Amino acid sequence: MKRIFVTGGAGYIGSHVVKALGERGYDVLTYDNLSTGHREAVLHGELIIGDLEDGALLRRTLEQFRPDAVIHFAAHIEVAESVSNPLKYYRNNTLNALNLLDALREQGIGRFIFSSTAAVYGIPEHIPVTEDAPLAPINPYGASKMMSERLLADLSAAQDGFDYVALRYFNVAGADAQNRIGQNYRNATHLITRALKTAKGEYPKLQIFGCDYPTDDGTCIRDYIHVDDLAAAHLAALDYLAGGGTSAIFNCGYGHGYSVREVVDVAKQVTGVDFTVEEASRRAGDPPALVADSGKLRERTGWAPQHDDLDFIVRTAWEWEKRLG
Ligand code: UFG
Repeated sequence: MKRIFVTGGAGYIGSHVVKALGERGYDVLTYDNLSTGHREAVLHGELIIGDLEDGALLRRTLEQFRPDAVIHFAAHIEVAESVSNPLKYYRNNTLNALNLLDALREQGIGRFIFSSTAAVYGIPEHIPVTEDAPLAPINPYGASKMMSERLLADLSAAQDGFDYVALRYFNVAGADAQNRIGQNYRNATHLITRALKTAKGEYPKLQIFGCDYPTDDGTCIRDYIHVDDLAAAHLAALDYLAGGGTSAIFNCGYGHGYSVREVVDVAKQVTGVDFTVEEASRRAGDPPALVADSGKLRERTGWAPQHDDLDFIVRTAWEWEKRLG
């Protein structure tokens, strides 16, 4: 398996996977409409600027490149926006995934890695959450990804020679240790990015959304995973499929979490800036705690994280933020 087609390879997570694929000697082709991605984030291989809705360009590109496997990142990811504009999410995250799968079926491309999310669980009953927990998304973003997972499950059951891995990402953060790529969204909402931008002076204060949760310090707990460890999970998933592994779903996290207050403390230490923090009311749709049981990924693929260290995650993100200016 040498030739990998990556949709959304110019985005935050996609670009780290493209980097890792290039470093491992894969032949990579990125397909991205640059709606949120950046041309300069693609460190390896060619970039085709194209939309998944453009079926003709998509098919032509696949025919010419003839990939052995596809990694599908291209999607919308903002929970709040998905609530106000659900059709945008179902169209891009579910319908475009279906169209891509159709094109792959036509061309006999049978290995697929899908970016899923912890949002498919909604508010899990047990923490850490395992892959067989009930799926009960509480927003259209999570539902759009859950529906794509269902498409994949049904397709792999129906079609010999089609195998997929769906990776359910927990809270992805951090940046390339060499500071070449990192998160670069117009309106950052994620905690670590938001805290660092506040330290930089882009925002006057950081709000903590809810201090009355049933956790030790009253703030929400999340499982923060460094983006390069997540990238490594994609390479492990490729190896798994290449080795004859059958379709599977894996959680991607470290298996332990940090509270919002703990993250804020680390952000203050790393930046050396005592930025203003305000206790605010809860944000709608936030589960109190979300931590992955990632035992299945480790056991089945041999994935072993290298950066399970909140300080490293925040430091790499900070170096990147400073570079963004
Ligand atoms: N938070 C704050 N202040 C902020 C930003 C975030 O207190 O300015 C809190 C949130 O309320 C939450 C925690 O920090 O408790 C983490 O929030 P993020 O926005 O960083 O991340 P989420 O956990 O909301 O979202 C992540 C992924 C989503 C995915 C979701 C699954 O980014 O794509 O997990 O629940 F859908």
